[in-house]
Amino acid sequence: MDPIPLSQPDISEMERSYVSDVLESTRLSFGPYLKRFERQMADRCGTSHAIAVSSGTAALHCIVRSLHLQPGDEILTTPYSFVASSNALLFEDLEPVFVDIDPDTYNIDIEKAKAALTARTKGILAVDVFGVPADWPALTEFAETHDLALIDDACEALGASIGDRPIGAWGDAASFGFYPNKQMTTGEGGCITTNDADLAAICQSLRNQGRATTAEMRHVRLGFNYRLSEMQAALGCAQLDRLDDLLDRRSQAAEAYSEALAPLHHMLHRPTSAPLGQRSWFVYVVRLHDSAPPDARDRLVDALHNAGIGAAPYFPSIHLQPYYRDRFGFTSGSLPIAERVAARTLALPFFPAITSAQIERVAETISRVLPPILDPAPSQRATSS
Ligand SMILES: Cc1ncc(COP(=O)(O)O)c(C=O)c1O
Repeated sequence: MDPIPLSQPDISEMERSYVSDVLESTRLSFGPYLKRFERQMADRCGTSHAIAVSSGTAALHCIVRSLHLQPGDEILTTPYSFVASSNALLFEDLEPVFVDIDPDTYNIDIEKAKAALTARTKGILAVDVFGVPADWPALTEFAETHDLALIDDACEALGASIGDRPIGAWGDAASFGFYPNKQMTTGEGGCITTNDADLAAICQSLRNQGRATTAEMRHVRLGFNYRLSEMQAALGCAQLDRLDDLLDRRSQAAEAYSEALAPLHHMLHRPTSAPLGQRSWFVYVVRLHDSAPPDARDRLVDALHNAGIGAAPYFPSIHLQPYYRDRFGFTSGSLPIAERVAARTLALPFFPAITSAQIERVAETISRVLPPILDPAPSQRATSS
């Protein structure tokens, strides 16, 4: 049987035609598609500025750098995310203070964030994990009360919203990432969205070697090469033109999974619906029950791979990554909810073109391979009792 990949970009004739346009022109960087891409992103996110960069990590780094934070400042953040979220803080010698997560949304627990506040706390970096909006109204109030910088790592949440305010328009600025597994892709790429004109100007300068303006060879700050090429911007424009369709198809795939996996509810939790606003489906992540043996999730991932089905442990908790353990001395038990969730979650194949037959095959395979993993030796127990 054909393998089912974990993710797959959705590229149409439109993407090919926009990218060929660029290749037939002489502008391979800073051309009209970049401008258009930034305008489309700002429109989509309801912000006055969008600055395209080379990755989601670069977007986060530019935001963190532009917020006038000082080395050693504490930033409250979530351990249940992709490692880039808190790496961006380390790039600037800031101190990530990991706050445990809400067991249903998997997003930062706002009450625990409040309890972690100290005199050194200068900001919050929250993540809309798997496309579920964090509690931005509460985070905004908390940040305003304590004069904290507020960053939205929205790399997984393009298209999500709370009320009539899109994700991208919350906090001081938001980062998006366009790796090929995301809701839309530019191959590699990212974007910053913000309503803060000063922050936008600093990010524009930072992505282009700290230049005063794009046209000048005057470098007024230490910058980077975080530029997005014109080919990538063209690909991004086509994906944005098709975004509503791509998001609809992801959401239909999620519905089909939830139906197909319903009979397995005694073995695994399906994703819960977003308590606040509208989620944007990035990945379809299921969680084994707390009673599952400690190695069950990894064994299930292996069994799915053996059946030709893509699956991945998603996410390992950042504070237990070897680099973070070595540098900060984090140990198991410090963030129990994130650790419990991280040990039991896995992502299943998920992309706009996934078929109902593929979803059925994933569900049928799980229903076959999971029971013996969860209950390895029922016959032994029967004979010993
Ligand atoms: C939550 C989160 N933050 C940051 C990133 C980093 O994005 P990129 O891989 O484009 O640097 C990702 C991408 O995987 C992500 O999921």
